[in-house]
This record gives sequence, structure tokens and C-alpha cells, in this order.
Amino acid sequence: MRKICILLAFLLALPSAAQSERRTVRSGELWPDNTGVHINAHGGGVLKYGDTYYWFGEHKSDHTSAALVGVTCYASTDLVNWRNCGVALSVSDEKGSDIERGCILERPKVIYNPVTKQFCMWFHLELKGRGYDAARYGVAVSDRPEGPYRFLYSQRADAGTWPVEFGEKELATIDTLNADNFKEQWTPAWLEAVKQGLYVKRDFGTGQMSRDMTLFVDDDGKAYHIFSSEDNLTLHIAELTGDYLHHTGHYTRLAPAGHNEAPAIFKHEGTYWMITSGCTGWDPNEARMFSATSIWGPWTQHPNPCRGPKAELTFGGQSTYILEIVNSKSSNSRYRWVFMADIWRPRHPSDARYIWLPIEFEDGKPVIRWRDEWDLCE
Ligand code: GAL
Repeated sequence: MRKICILLAFLLALPSAAQSERRTVRSGELWPDNTGVHINAHGGGVLKYGDTYYWFGEHKSDHTSAALVGVTCYASTDLVNWRNCGVALSVSDEKGSDIERGCILERPKVIYNPVTKQFCMWFHLELKGRGYDAARYGVAVSDRPEGPYRFLYSQRADAGTWPVEFGEKELATIDTLNADNFKEQWTPAWLEAVKQGLYVKRDFGTGQMSRDMTLFVDDDGKAYHIFSSEDNLTLHIAELTGDYLHHTGHYTRLAPAGHNEAPAIFKHEGTYWMITSGCTGWDPNEARMFSATSIWGPWTQHPNPCRGPKAELTFGGQSTYILEIVNSKSSNSRYRWVFMADIWRPRHPSDARYIWLPIEFEDGKPVIRWRDEWDLCE
């Protein structure tokens, strides 16, 4: 009898499954999945489909940032407890494949196309053994949110087309730009030439460079690919075809020569807000913020939206996505948007951490305040 009592007391002391579920987000700390392992989905984004959120990101290994596995997927209905769904897009063992194991595959994002009923994944791709020279985007599709995704193609962007804002005057100026006159970088004359389209002209034939990226679906169902181009000096916003698998050839430039990457975008009450970082590799820098009332611009720059310790370094992280949480199970939340960022750990890539913070508005502008811990239902 005594033994049974001890056993009962022991069982009662164990936390129930419900109790052991997480309720809060703790940015910068380990974030265990349903198997107790730190979530491995970096540079990621979240897709809501039905009642479920799907978090896609880069699988990072312990000792290299190259892609040895591919894009991972996690599922959740409360945004805090995540089930590991495994590898959504696997790298290939075929020699010479664009996505050969050991390539660089970064910042994957997935959007759902209601017309084709396909899940469309875009990502930044660098071919194996070529560092960051290829500067391509890659596209993959699946009939199911968690995959497996089938790789379709990779290439540079918008070959043979000029940005929509380049009219006769701009094209006449471009005609006069001679790369030989701008060999020295970071001079005022070079910056002016970059703004005028020096590198758009350089890459006109082969296609525009495409590195750090995100996807955005507007209220009218049109989708856009937003990426760092022109040696990371200028962001491009490129319209996608109705099936979300190609560019239409219509694109605009944001902050020419502004040196932005890690774009994350959301649309709040008719205004598009974009948060980006500067270009300092894995090291954090100060977030930048832009707004526009049309996706085609003009875009206006605002001061850094971050507040709190290390706000001048984006709390040690780099933007990756802005997630809408309204109408979710966490719909009690007084917040509508969550800012997602990565705290990179280049010497131990799989140990990189996540920053998830709610976006507040002050004087009509987004503000991101550091919190050690917060409840999504708060
Ligand atoms: C960062 C970029 C990351 C990764 C890294 C490599 O600037 O945002 O996605 O490409 O550089 O150094």
C-alpha cells in the first residue's frame, strides 16, 4: 500500500501534457519543438493554412552554414508549441544539381496559390562551391503545405527588362554610364551612378542578382518577390505571375544604393511597412524601416523602430519575416503583427536563436519593444 501511495504521489507531481505546453515566447533562448530539440528553421517565414501555422526555414548544421539538409517545416496552432514536420525541400545528391547538397539555400518563404492549389516556395540559392556569386532565387512547389516540395528551377531575376520607373530620361542617363569610370567604389560619383542604375545595366542581359528575400501576397491576391539585388545595394520588388511561380517582368527598386537586406514586409491599414537590415553578414546592425501607400512606391525611410536594450543592433538579430496573428487561436492577442528575426551563430549555426516580438504602433508608426518573455494571448 505504501508503495502504491508513493507511486501515486510521484505521478501527481508530474506535469500534465497540457501543463508542459509553452504559453510564452522567449526571444533569444532555446525553443524546443515537440521532440524537445531546438527548432531548426532559420531565416524563415510562416504560412497560415486552415487553422495551422507552418514555419519554414533553413536547416542549419552544427559546423557549416552550407545546406546539408534543406528547408525544414514545423506546424502549430498556437504559434508557441511546434511539431517537427521534417524536411519540406531536400537538397539533392545529384552532382551538378542547382540544389546539390553543400549549396547555400537561405531565407525560404512559402505562399499558397488558391487558383492552382499549390504551395509555392521561393528561396535564395547559391550554387555549390561558388560562394555568393550566383545570386539566384530558386522555386519549388508542393500540393501539401509540409511538402515534400519539388524543385522547379533557379535563376537570376528579370533578365532583359528595366525597372518600371525607368522612362526615356532614365534610360538616356543609363546609356551614358560607363562601368570603367566607376572602378573606385563608395565615392559620391559611384553612389550616384549606382542610384541611376549602373548595376542594373551591368546585369541587364544575365538577369538581376537575387539574394536575401521574402514573399508578399497583397489583398488583391497579387504576389511579390522582394530581394537584395545589385551587389546588395538595392532592393527589388518584383511582381509574380498568377501561379506565383515566375516573375512577370514588372519590378521596382527600393532605396537605390541604400545597402539593405533581410527584407520583411506587412501591410497595415493600407500602408506597406518594410523592415530591413544593413549589410554586415552574420553580425547584427541597426534595423531600417520604410513605408509606402503603393507597393510600387515611392518609399519613405523612417527611424529605427526598435526600442530597448541593444535596439541599435536589432537586439542582436536580423529581420526575416513579419507574421500576422489576428484570427488565430491566439486571436485574444491585442497585437496583430509579430516581428521575426534571427540571432545568427556562424560558429555553431544550428544554435542560432529566434527573436519574436509584437509590433506596436506609436503615432501611427510601428515600434518593436524588447521583451524577455511575452504571452501571445496577452
Ligand atoms: C547575411 C544574410 C544572411 C546570409 C549571411 C551570409 O547578410 O542576411 O541571410 O546570407 O549574410 O554571410
